[in-house]
Amino acid sequence: MNNPYKSVPIKSSEITPYSQYLSRRDFMKAAGVLAGSALLAACAPEAAEATPPMALPDLPAKMDELGDPANSFEDISNYNNFYEFTTDKESVARLAEKFTPKPWTVEVSGLVNNPRTFGIEDLLGKFTQEERIYRLRCVEAWSMVIPWTGFTLSSLLKEVEPTSDAKYVRFETVYRPEEMPGQSSPFYPWPYQEGLRLDEAMHNLTILATGLYGLPMPNSNGAPIRLVVPWKYGFKSIKSIVRIELVAEQPTTLWSMVGPNEYGFYSNVNPNRPHPRWSQATERRIGEFNRRPTLMFNGYAEEVAHLYEGMDLNVNY
Ligand code: MTE
Repeated sequence: MNNPYKSVPIKSSEITPYSQYLSRRDFMKAAGVLAGSALLAACAPEAAEATPPMALPDLPAKMDELGDPANSFEDISNYNNFYEFTTDKESVARLAEKFTPKPWTVEVSGLVNNPRTFGIEDLLGKFTQEERIYRLRCVEAWSMVIPWTGFTLSSLLKEVEPTSDAKYVRFETVYRPEEMPGQSSPFYPWPYQEGLRLDEAMHNLTILATGLYGLPMPNSNGAPIRLVVPWKYGFKSIKSIVRIELVAEQPTTLWSMVGPNEYGFYSNVNPNRPHPRWSQATERRIGEFNRRPTLMFNGYAEEVAHLYEGMDLNVNY
């Protein structure tokens, strides 16, 4: 079988400059086209087609390898979990508008032969940015299909050469309470941190995403760079990363500190293991009416099940 997750390098000609994209959005907003076209598309497709082509976003239609369409740029960037800003998913984008993702550096350190601090431009230039259309399954039982652009975490880790003592990778989000109002909340142990086992981190499906739909990463999705681990619940995919550390012991994570009985280190998508407060058997795909069954490892079992051979997934949740 062909590997459906094979990455596709993106030609720079396919990437719309963000400024151009934004000015088109501003134009559409001003013309009331965004709201209007959604309504028209639902009840009168022929009328929607009459809208001048210039007013329509030219983001290409995309689908995942299971044949499900990608969610729209609007959905993906306006329905977010990013507790550094707020716990209200529909207010993240607005509160994150003034966040400054540039300049930005990512420090890669710990048990490595070549510790380095990369500027975001170094990372964008050094590693070929590829498209990966992945399902994102939130532990809250909603999901989306997202066309990320980015590069494999393994290619970055190879640059710094983990030593033989390195067994885990720890990730940390930027701490900027002056720009991120949610970080003033005393209910969470900031900064957000996450972790992976080294073999999970080196897996070809694990990427550092720098954009979506070929556009730079929106602030609400974790600009300028975030992790994406598609077979795990979404909270493992930590946003706005400033530090990656190779360590010997399993690192602690924000969610396992907040709710150790609810959020384990592995957090692989598993429809057979309910969350203590709700079922994980089904999910609501954003934009769909009916719930759909949740797939083991979020549909990536063929690629990743071997990583957990011999482990009791009810114990190692
Ligand atoms: N990373 C940080 N730093 N802060 C967060 O609150 N939320 C997580 C994850 N990464 C979160 C985070 C959760 S719960 C989910 S479901 C995904 O981001 C959501 O990603 P999206 O908003 O890009 O869809």
